[in-house]
Amino acid sequence: MTATDLVRSYVERAERSPRDALASVDWTAAPSLVKRYPRELAVGVPPSLSDLLRRGYGLTRYQWTTRVPGPVIQPGLSEGRPFRPVPAGGGLASSELYLVGAVPGLAVGAYHYDAAAHELTPVRGGATPGDLGVPEAALCLVITGVVERLAFKYGEFAYRLLCLNAGVLAGQLVSVRSDTEPCWNFDGARARVCLGLSAGAESVMAVVRVAGVEPGERPPAMDGTPLSPTARTSPSPVRELARLVTACEATGGHQHPAPHPPALSFTEATRLPDADPRLIDGVEARRTADAGFSDEPLTLADVAALMTVTAGPLLSGVFLLARRVGGLSSGVYCYNAEEHRLLRLGDPRPGLSRALGDGGAALSIYPAGDYQAGFAVAGDRWYTALNIAAGAAAQRCCLASAARGLGCRIQCSYDVETVVGALGMPTGLRPLCQVLVGRESGRLSYTQPLDERHVR
Ligand SMILES: Cc1cc2nc3c(=O)[nH]c(=O)nc-3n(C[C@H](O)[C@H](O)[C@H](O)COP(=O)(O)O)c2cc1C
Repeated sequence: MTATDLVRSYVERAERSPRDALASVDWTAAPSLVKRYPRELAVGVPPSLSDLLRRGYGLTRYQWTTRVPGPVIQPGLSEGRPFRPVPAGGGLASSELYLVGAVPGLAVGAYHYDAAAHELTPVRGGATPGDLGVPEAALCLVITGVVERLAFKYGEFAYRLLCLNAGVLAGQLVSVRSDTEPCWNFDGARARVCLGLSAGAESVMAVVRVAGVEPGERPPAMDGTPLSPTARTSPSPVRELARLVTACEATGGHQHPAPHPPALSFTEATRLPDADPRLIDGVEARRTADAGFSDEPLTLADVAALMTVTAGPLLSGVFLLARRVGGLSSGVYCYNAEEHRLLRLGDPRPGLSRALGDGGAALSIYPAGDYQAGFAVAGDRWYTALNIAAGAAAQRCCLASAARGLGCRIQCSYDVETVVGALGMPTGLRPLCQVLVGRESGRLSYTQPLDERHVR
């Protein structure tokens, strides 16, 4: 099978529930959720980047009662499970974060963000955004995906979650700090080599450019050989997964299609109220709604805020299943971003609710994309880019929900074909993830906040 055949056939395989893999998970094989390099060289995070890194991807919550197998994250912290400000498929934070370029006050180079210590570890001296294929930037954040963190549980389904998780983190970073923006055109293979990551084990998924940082005084240059982490990640043993990961790596110079809204026949159109949500206001409060949803309806203003931020680049549309929204009859809708209107497509199939495992949410939201149109223009890399766009959209939706005091839950445990049929999605479009929103019926959380006293 060629790399291209592998990627194209993966689209369909990754839409099916990974039931077999889940039935035989070896939890003793679960790798640590935190990557660490030797600590001797670690330096403090520059104050101008501290907020971005901690609120973007620090360790902010801890569940003392549930042990995740793998090395203890920090000496002095009892065994448990760390949580980040962002959600993650399976609760397994698969992304790692690096800084490359002119980090204020430090030598130009690549640094790994050690979230457990809230420190930076130099990984390669002299590395610049040019080594990522983004020569015009001064400083970039690089989001990688550690394959084995998900593969031990989900098998090859892991790659879809790896992309969505990376997109969620990209969506978070650009929401935490306004002078950041995602770069869609970077060279993933070159970036992986620059960071010294092993092919098929840890892949460069997304790059976010940071503007507005003053390089300041620079200490002398550091070594140009990449540093090795304390525990080396090995390529995934799941057959073909390592090949898929490298096949999807960006090779630079590619174009992405500009998707246009699908032609839809609709029965009525509802103009939404103007909305300009501040996503930063949702960062502290966001966590996955675990206690289910109450019967209280959402308002049109809620829906307007959610739609404004969920629609985004590379997506072909946002579909909705509205159950309880004041001023909107229940049914299936598609959001028309250009006119800020909801187009009513009809009623969903009866019994759909249970099939989607929606927990009684007032609203189910589906960012949708067109794989075939994108492959034709951008090649294999499109799989990753589209799912990253979906993850970022889902996270913006979570933050807008949290900012409005609403509960939100990203899910992938729905049947894609059922959703396509029940929502009457046009040929070619696929729901990339499911985001449930509603008023929570309570707050259920066993996690405790972590602060500076806990990190080292
Ligand atoms: C891409 C993605 C897929 C997810 N899929 C599911 C899912 O299928 N079912 C579920 O119960 N939770 C799902 N979640 C939610 C995670 O379980 C949750 O984010 C994780 O446990 C961490 O908790 P937190 O969001 O409160 O930090 C998903 C999250 C993400 C980002």
